[in-house]
Amino acid sequence: MKVAFFHTKPYDREAFEAERKGHEIDYFDQRLSEETVHLAQGYPAVCVFANDILNARVIHALVEGGTKVLALRCAGCNHVDFDAVGETGLRVVNVPAYSPNAVAEHAVALMQAVNRHLPRAVSQVRMGNYALHGLVGMDVVDKTVGVVGTGRIGTVFARILKQGFGAEVIAHDPYPNDECRAMGIDYVPLEDLLARSDIISLHCPLTEDSHHLIDAAAISRLKRGVLIVNTSRGAVIDTQAAIDGLKSGQIGGLGIDVYENEGPLFWEDRSDEPLTDDQFARLLGFQNAVVTGHQAFLTREALDQIAKQTLENLTCIETGVACERELTLAA
Ligand code: NAI
Repeated sequence: MKVAFFHTKPYDREAFEAERKGHEIDYFDQRLSEETVHLAQGYPAVCVFANDILNARVIHALVEGGTKVLALRCAGCNHVDFDAVGETGLRVVNVPAYSPNAVAEHAVALMQAVNRHLPRAVSQVRMGNYALHGLVGMDVVDKTVGVVGTGRIGTVFARILKQGFGAEVIAHDPYPNDECRAMGIDYVPLEDLLARSDIISLHCPLTEDSHHLIDAAAISRLKRGVLIVNTSRGAVIDTQAAIDGLKSGQIGGLGIDVYENEGPLFWEDRSDEPLTDDQFARLLGFQNAVVTGHQAFLTREALDQIAKQTLENLTCIETGVACERELTLAA
């Protein structure tokens, strides 16, 4: 199938070229948007990632240009306008589970980077400052860790914390799973999780229900000094409320891989440009906030799986075989 591949990075191209088989792929550096959708003209398949723009205008333009399949090379699909998908008959496939470990392990890395003040510690040592004040962390063993969303990624995170660190893990999810229950993880209402946790890690998808799940009201109910980790989607946290929580000390540390308004920032080298997003600049100003640029998925194993499963999805659609990773409108 002829595929227009948007927002290409060298690591994407390497992984997809190794798996390409019968498909013909044209790689575009640009993010898909209303300004760049004309590049997809005449391509039956378009491949996009988590920060491409897939609003109604873009979806209608794709279909008018001859696109039949939208292949998301990511798990999250909160950026797709499914009303427009329904109106146009565009088929949408995704890669729901390329490597839960990649994301869960990055969440653990963020947790410990915040807890043990690693960015500050590393830069102090580089500067020849070996003093330890300001670097006091906490043991994770026996602490209460709240996991919001125990799907594929949240379950791996919960297992690492429970069996690796020896933490007491509690969870909140509208659909509890047997694997977590078998590990002895208690499911509790969100209110309880917020009030009891020393560390909270977010692993739910971004939906209407989870939008600003961590807002000012939720933050006021947290244990003072809690560490919050977010590798899910930026808008699960109300950024301004988190900034206020960090300023007051109600939030003791924040480790995030995703940010509410990351679309225009992440995945590009902007080191020569002024940072115009004042909220993001404020977040970066906190010693106890560690921010990575949506890289939790970025392991060799995950990239290989993303390429393999995306191309398998396209082969299924092309050959008329039912595709188990096709998203229905209920998504
Ligand atoms: P999943 O679909 O396996 O699990 C999500 C879980 O969240 C489900 O058990 C669901 O019942 C639960 N859930 C839904 N709404 C909830 C709510 N309001 N409160 C609590 N739980 C809720 O998804 P998976 O694979 O574990 O991924 C989770 C999210 O991680 C994705 O939706 C995506 O946004 C994000 N992600 C981030 C990546 C990164 O690089 N930072 C990479 C891959 C995924």
